[in-house]
Amino acid sequence: MPVLTNIGYLATCRDQGSQEEIHAISKATLVWKGESILWVGKESDLPTEFSEMEQWDAEGKLVIPGLIDCHTHLAFGGWREGEFKQRIRGESYLKIAESGGGILSTVTKTREATREELMARSSRTLDEMAALGVTTVECKSGYGLNIADEIKQLEIYESLNCEHALDLVSTLLAAHTVPPEYKTDKEGYLRLLCDELIPLVGERKLAEFCDVFVEKSAFNPEEARRVFEAGEKAGLRAKLHADQLSDSGGASLAAEVGAVSADHLECISDCGIEKMRKAGVVAVTLPLASLFTFQKPLDARRLVSAGVPVAVATDFNPGSAPSFHLPLVMTLACVQNRMTPKEVLKGATIYAARAIEREGVTGSLEKGKLADFAIIDSPDPDHWLYHFRANACLLTMKRGKIIHERK
Ligand code: NIG
Ligand code: FE
Repeated sequence: MPVLTNIGYLATCRDQGSQEEIHAISKATLVWKGESILWVGKESDLPTEFSEMEQWDAEGKLVIPGLIDCHTHLAFGGWREGEFKQRIRGESYLKIAESGGGILSTVTKTREATREELMARSSRTLDEMAALGVTTVECKSGYGLNIADEIKQLEIYESLNCEHALDLVSTLLAAHTVPPEYKTDKEGYLRLLCDELIPLVGERKLAEFCDVFVEKSAFNPEEARRVFEAGEKAGLRAKLHADQLSDSGGASLAAEVGAVSADHLECISDCGIEKMRKAGVVAVTLPLASLFTFQKPLDARRLVSAGVPVAVATDFNPGSAPSFHLPLVMTLACVQNRMTPKEVLKGATIYAARAIEREGVTGSLEKGKLADFAIIDSPDPDHWLYHFRANACLLTMKRGKIIHERK
C-alpha cells in the first residue's frame, strides 16, 4: 500500500462547485491500494494506520488527476500536411474538403491501412500520451465509413483497451461525412447506418457513444436525429460535433436528444448555451482545431458564466488538429478560449470524465476512485500552464501502476 507524501499542491478536482474550484490541498498525502485511492488529505492528518506504509516522496511538486482526452480520432491512415499548407495560403477547410481533400482523403488511407499498422501507430501515440500525464482516451471511428472499416477501427480500440495500460472509451462516428459510394445517395447511407451498422455495433458492444458531425457540409439536425434514435435503441448515447463552422442548431439538438456532450461549439448561439445548461450537456472545447482552421475561437467565458461545464480535449486527427499534446492544448484553452488554468484543469479531468461517463471512476483524486494521477514538475496549475514546457510530467500512474517515469 504506497503512500505519496510531500505533495506541494494536490488538485483533487472534485466535481462540486464552480469550474474554477479544483479543491486543492497543500502539503498533501495520497494513499492507494491496488488500483484504488484509499485516502487523500493534508499530510498532518494522515491516519497512523498509513504512516508505516511504503513512502514515496513527491518532492513538493504538483499532483493532478490523470488527464482525460475526451475527444480524439486516434486511429487513422496517413497524414495531411499538404492541406496544412493550403490553409496557410488561405484556402478554407470546407473548400479543401469539397475538392477531394479533407476527411475523405483520410478515409482512403485508413481503408488501405492494415489492422496491424493502425494498431502499432495508435499504440505508440498512446505511449506518448501517457508520458504527458494522460490516463484515459476517448477514440472515435469515422474514417472507415462502411461497415467493415468502421468495425475495423472500433475493434482496434477494443484490442488496445485490453493491451495498453491506458483506458480507451470508444465512439462510433460513422456519420462523419458521406462516403464516395453514397455520394448521390445520402439516404442510402443513413439507412445503412441506422438499420445495419449501429445495431451491429450496439450488439457487439464495440462503442458506448454515437457521434454525428452536424454541419451544413455533413449532416443536418433531422438526419442526426435519426442516427441518434437508432443509437439510443442500440444503447449508444449521443455525442455531437456541433456548431463548428456555422451555427447549425447542433447545441439545441444536443440538449433535445439528451447528449452527453456537444463538442467544438465555436459558433454556438446564446439560446444553444441555455438549452445545454438546462439539459446538463457537457461542452467540449477543442482550441487546436479552431487554431488550425484559422477560425475565431470559442469564447468559453460565455459557457462558464452560464454554468455549463466546459471540458478541454485535443481533437487529435490528421486534418484540423494533428497533435495529441493535451497539456499544450490546455494552454491553448487558456489563451484562445479565455479559461483560467484552474478551469482548464477541471476541464481536462473531472468534466472530461463526465463527457465520457467515467466521472464515477476517474477524473478526480477521491477515496474509492482509480489511482490515476500525474506528478507535474511545477508548483501549481497556474505556473504549469503558463510556462507550457515541452513536457513537465515527471510520473504517470494508471490504476496504481507507474506507466511513465522521467529518470
Ligand atoms: O473534429 N469536424 C469534423 N471532424 C474532425 C476533423 C476531421 C478531419 O478533418 O479529418 C474535427 O475537427
Ligand atoms: Fe473531432
